[in-house]
Amino acid sequence: MKVLIINGPNLNLLGQRETDKYGKENLEQINLQLQKYARKNSLELETFQSNHEGEIIDKIQMSKDKVDVIIINPAAYTHTSVAIRDALLAVNIPAIEVHLSNIYKREDFRHRSLISDIVNGQITGFGAKGYFLALEAAKDIQKND
Ligand code: DQA
Repeated sequence: MKVLIINGPNLNLLGQRETDKYGKENLEQINLQLQKYARKNSLELETFQSNHEGEIIDKIQMSKDKVDVIIINPAAYTHTSVAIRDALLAVNIPAIEVHLSNIYKREDFRHRSLISDIVNGQITGFGAKGYFLALEAAKDIQKND
């Protein structure tokens, strides 16, 4: 089973950026732990981060028939990107939305996610743990298919 984790803009700055909201660990450290977790759970895991909407869309399109579950934190694009929503709909791959912070406890403009109604589920507010919870959920998605 292959899982792809996509992280959107500014998440390359984890560990330096607004650490009160996003935590002190950097993305490389989180990804290393996720790879370890994936190996233990017999999952093949690819991680991808981009600050560019088009690159995220290309990555989603290229995943068609190659990836079983997409875990995505679109970061600021969560609230703006019809194009990422359309790409997820186009490939028809089960997807899990993750946010480190609880987007519903923050500014009004963060309360609206343009993908929340098309993903299998959303995990928000548990910091980096959310990615691990999503991997756990991904295993069940596969089982239930
Ligand atoms: C975020 C929440 C978004 O509103 C914000 O733009 C981010 C990160 C999160 O993980 O909490 O960059 O997706």
